[in-house]
Amino acid sequence: MGMVDYLQVNNLQKLYYVNNSKIKAVDDVTFNVKAGEVFGLLGPNGAGKTSIIKCICGLLDYDGGDIIVNGYSMKNKRRKGLRHISAVLEGNRNIYWRMTVKENLEFFSGINGISSSKVKERINYLINQFQLQQQKDTVVNKLSRGMKQKVAIAISLIANKDIILLDEPTLGLDVSMSHEMRSILRGIAKDENKTILLSTHDMNVVEATCDRLIIINKGKIIAKDTVDNLKSLFNKEIYKVTLMEGPKNQLKERLKKVAQLLNYQKQAENTSLLLQLDNGNQLIEIFQLFKEEGISLIAIEKVTKNLEGIFIDLLKEEQHEILL
Ligand SMILES: Nc1ncnc2c1ncn2[C@@H]1O[C@H](COP(=O)(O)OP(=O)(O)OP(=O)(O)O)[C@@H](O)[C@H]1O
Ligand SMILES: [Mg+2]
Repeated sequence: MGMVDYLQVNNLQKLYYVNNSKIKAVDDVTFNVKAGEVFGLLGPNGAGKTSIIKCICGLLDYDGGDIIVNGYSMKNKRRKGLRHISAVLEGNRNIYWRMTVKENLEFFSGINGISSSKVKERINYLINQFQLQQQKDTVVNKLSRGMKQKVAIAISLIANKDIILLDEPTLGLDVSMSHEMRSILRGIAKDENKTILLSTHDMNVVEATCDRLIIINKGKIIAKDTVDNLKSLFNKEIYKVTLMEGPKNQLKERLKKVAQLLNYQKQAENTSLLLQLDNGNQLIEIFQLFKEEGISLIAIEKVTKNLEGIFIDLLKEEQHEILL
């Protein structure tokens, strides 16, 4: 399969009417997901993630724009589009609680019409991938929440559709289960060339699983990029420098020529500066400068910004300057 835009979301609008007012839950959202790609919808509560996913899998009508699944518009070719999609939303409605893990997998593979020899092979593959060997004969109802989530996602894969939509696949899982889920999703996507669209409010999940992402807030896209680019964009070197005394104006001016002065705070005992450098070598120039100005350094530390920090910064941005 080539790198085609398998799922296109074009200028999507979703409105809810509550009493007499209108809520724009999804406001002009555009993105595309290529075949075999894991794509993240990242945003805080109420951002519109679930609404987008429900529109894509045909559970909600939308008010503007369009969704194209492998060439079929979900407006007027919904049934054809749905042949390519399986989804796991909140509530895990696709599970039969009184059947065992294996029976569930058999049942859903059956109704999706896979040949019986392939079925067995695929069920075993999924049981292994999801590490459900010990639970395979347990009634789903008796499993922990995390295990149920694994079963739900395994079921979404049994049908062997190309596009898998996962709404908050790691929500409510403990740390180790969440990590396990991330590596399962990444592994399945790459092994089976699945197109996965997942939503989350957890940047770490995106970082561990996704190739590209959009960050949404209040229905609008605030950033769209590859995970790697978004990280490197913000991966400039930032140092916090603590000085004995406040920098004189002259020092500030000289500093600004070497680095970007992000912040400057004078405290009772000392002064701290936040400097952004293009590379570590500039640090030597900075030291030289302090020496020339006769300033004593108390401390210097590297401030690393992870994606989580970037996410928080982006949400704080009132204007969308970082829109890519
Ligand atoms: N059925 C509904 N009726 C009215 N408003 C709704 C409905 N569903 C969602 N909304 C509103 O639409 C906006 C987007 O909600 P949505 O559930 O899509 O966000 P989300 O990103 O999935 O949030 P969460 O992280 O809490 O799951 C919110 O303001 C929400 O209150
Ligand atoms: Mg949601």
